[in-house]
Amino acid sequence: MGNSSIISGVITEYFDCSVREENVAEVGFKESVSISSTIAFNIEMSKHYLSMSNNNTGTGSSSDEGVPATTDNAGTTPITRRSLLGSLAGAGISVTALSEKIKAAQTRTSPIKNDDQQPKHVITSPDRTIRTTVDIRDGIPKYSVAKNGTPIIEPSTLGFDFQDAPALAGEFSVTGAKRESVDTTWEPVWDRYEEIRNHYEELVVGLEETTSSSRALTLSFRVFNDGIAFRYTIPEQDSMDEFTITSENTQFNFAGNYTTWWIPQSYDSYEMLYNETPLSDVCGANITDPMEGHSEGPSRPPSRGANTPVTMEVADDLYVSLHEANLTDYAGMTMTPQSGEDTHMKSTIVPLPDGTKVKASAPHPTPWRTLTIGNDPGDLIESNILLNLNDPPAEIYEDNTDWIDPQKYMGIWWEIHIGQSTWIDGPDHGATTENTKRYMDFCSQHSIPSLLTEGWNVGWQGGWGEQDFDQPYDNFDLETIAEYGLNLDPKVRWMAHNETGGLAADYETQLDEAYSLYQEVGSHALKTGYAGDVPDHYHHDQWMVNHYQYVVETAAEYELMINAHEPIKPTGKRRTYPNFMTREGVRGMEYNAWSEEGNPPDHTVTLPFTRMLAGPLDYTPGIFNIDFEDRGGSGNSTDQVPGNQRVHSTRARQLALYPILFSGLQMVADLPDHYTNDAGEPFPEFTFIEHVPAAWHDTVVVNAEIGDYITVARRKDDEWYIGSGTDETARVLDISLEFLSDSERESSRPYVAHVYTDGSDADLETNPTPVAIDKVIVDPSDTIVASMEPGGGQAIRLTPVSSEEAEKVDEYEPPEQEYTELQVPNTVDSDEAFITVVGTNAGTVIGGETVTVYVDGEETDTELVRLAPGEDTYTFDTTLSESGTYEVTIGPSMETTLPPQTVIVK
Ligand code: NOJ
Ligand code: CA
Repeated sequence: MGNSSIISGVITEYFDCSVREENVAEVGFKESVSISSTIAFNIEMSKHYLSMSNNNTGTGSSSDEGVPATTDNAGTTPITRRSLLGSLAGAGISVTALSEKIKAAQTRTSPIKNDDQQPKHVITSPDRTIRTTVDIRDGIPKYSVAKNGTPIIEPSTLGFDFQDAPALAGEFSVTGAKRESVDTTWEPVWDRYEEIRNHYEELVVGLEETTSSSRALTLSFRVFNDGIAFRYTIPEQDSMDEFTITSENTQFNFAGNYTTWWIPQSYDSYEMLYNETPLSDVCGANITDPMEGHSEGPSRPPSRGANTPVTMEVADDLYVSLHEANLTDYAGMTMTPQSGEDTHMKSTIVPLPDGTKVKASAPHPTPWRTLTIGNDPGDLIESNILLNLNDPPAEIYEDNTDWIDPQKYMGIWWEIHIGQSTWIDGPDHGATTENTKRYMDFCSQHSIPSLLTEGWNVGWQGGWGEQDFDQPYDNFDLETIAEYGLNLDPKVRWMAHNETGGLAADYETQLDEAYSLYQEVGSHALKTGYAGDVPDHYHHDQWMVNHYQYVVETAAEYELMINAHEPIKPTGKRRTYPNFMTREGVRGMEYNAWSEEGNPPDHTVTLPFTRMLAGPLDYTPGIFNIDFEDRGGSGNSTDQVPGNQRVHSTRARQLALYPILFSGLQMVADLPDHYTNDAGEPFPEFTFIEHVPAAWHDTVVVNAEIGDYITVARRKDDEWYIGSGTDETARVLDISLEFLSDSERESSRPYVAHVYTDGSDADLETNPTPVAIDKVIVDPSDTIVASMEPGGGQAIRLTPVSSEEAEKVDEYEPPEQEYTELQVPNTVDSDEAFITVVGTNAGTVIGGETVTVYVDGEETDTELVRLAPGEDTYTFDTTLSESGTYEVTIGPSMETTLPPQTVIVK
């Protein structure tokens, strides 16, 4: 079996959980892959590191040389990287040791003790719409949440089970409470907004057991205008020092059987299509065990549920998303039903190898459990509560963040996934010196600052265990390449790829050498990968959570931005670690290369309301060669080809994904040759990609229906970029430009709209690439339309009008379609499309109107007829199967049909 099967085979496991049939991709390489010897070796390695780290625990010095400037309102103080890593130098020091040190220095929280000992508290959001009740009257802590009187969470209990200690669950009395109102504004290093407001009401309640163990527990609640959050802190106390959590028992008793968008619970992956079902179906009696096929996992999930974020429609005007913020030195949280098919859920956190969940010592806070709440699905996207629940940048970022530069990147990547070339050195090797220079030339010509190369380093033929992250293959001359890129104008920086295959402990031993090399050759960004089982561990357990953090902090020392694949989900930590630019943790574009089903059109209009609520995602948009025509190469370079794979969208939709999907490192994923015509000139629509930024000063969600459609507008400096997308249904969306004149936005000037829409002849199945480009002048009073094919999209760039443009460019006129002539042949074959209409569009962009086909006076079909400005034609998909003579006509309504025509079906 070729080496590429190793990669593919590992990936196959991610297909194993599904409730929605399409979740199981038809990958051409289902056979299980024999990586056992590698894995066995790796397990040994990892056990070795694990034992080393266990020996290391407790030996860390607690003399912090630098205490960060920031202290949050619960009184916790994050540790600095320097103080953490002071004694962690050298190979093999595992993240477990890191975790020990974090807990030693992270918090200095004492129990809350004062006179405010009432057992029931209510906190409302600053705008008084959201109300959280905290009730400890019967000794058991409970909370509930409602918005405008509509209950969202009914009284739900809070608590923990421990190893070798009684549960912390009840028989509490209140020892004190503190309230605070916070309203501040801060500026992120980069993000979706220039400024972020942090505005909430806080309640911190101190509890103590009335039993002899008299342990203390602190509960913190924050209520924002756009959601609520709470967390536990085990405060510093005599009654509790080291502890091992075996279960976090946070209930989420949802008050109704809401429509829910979710992926199945998995402790290793988020690479799944979303299900839309009633909440009670999340228990998934019919779901395949999500951990089936997880060969190395220490234990199976105790029950079934969903990974977070989980998004729900509570009512027409009320949407919520359950997730977590500031996941630090703790296990990732999933949501599982308490019993049967119910709407009452609970937290299930991911186990460590021994089946326990979290090992820590007091004081120790948990991550925040968050419920983002909005009136509209778009409100969830616009919310910043996750970032607000994280700490300001850690100390290492205080001196210099110039190297943190959100940007686009290209890669020797897609050509490998579509089978043109290989990761391993050989006749079809992708990352050669020559090929890399060719890509770099293209990047420089089109101002793309970074180039990723995959398969550049020694190790791909030997299985994951032999990956050497500072040893280039012989045909990859790293110094020459890196220098070549830096000498281009504009310069292009090389971006390394580290595919660990999941061998995180081994990877830690290589970080310093590898990262110092990357820094030396001028790199500012790095892609990591964990495609495979992590020996002994799940990808989302406490140990791995700490590993991902260790990597991003180490990368900061070498001024490297991180794009992690197969990561832990984002929880807003990019605020504290602003070099964590993006991560995968999503079923990305690559699935279109591997399976015929790939990602259906509704996937990328579901992700913004689900996975993307957690944070940036490296989906890798920008495929222009939609159907992999002439994919070239030997065709057998990987197991993923040949087949009928393609991207399930139009090309205009690929453009639209740039503003729709947020990623601090945003890929321009296709091959250079696919962005140019036969004469070597870039397609005119590539201009949109050349200009679109990767980070923003403002974000507005204009249209939003989860899984159906979206329009997102984003501003960088004085330009706006607007992306619209639709599911498998053709549609026309109105994009009101009113947001340009909102009081908080100073940009009410007229703009030139550079509009990139599915061509009127575009068709998802047969002709996905035509993009119509129009240029018109718009102002905030306009409503511009996005007319889209199934799987289609529209991208708009708004630039301030120059005086020359003011003279030359037409003002926007909305489309207005009229139908002038029906073209129907005398005879047709059965099942042949035969009705063409000629019409006009008096507007300045492509229109769209629902038109009905009448056969013998009966409505037989309705289609969205999309006409380009001026005169255009449209052919209906309608066919007739029975032979005979028919009278056919069309019209937007029965009253407005054209004169009927006769057709004979043979
Ligand atoms: C899976 C990653 O998602 C993909 O981007 C990468 O190319 C392969 N693993 C190989 O590392
Ligand atoms: Ca992946």
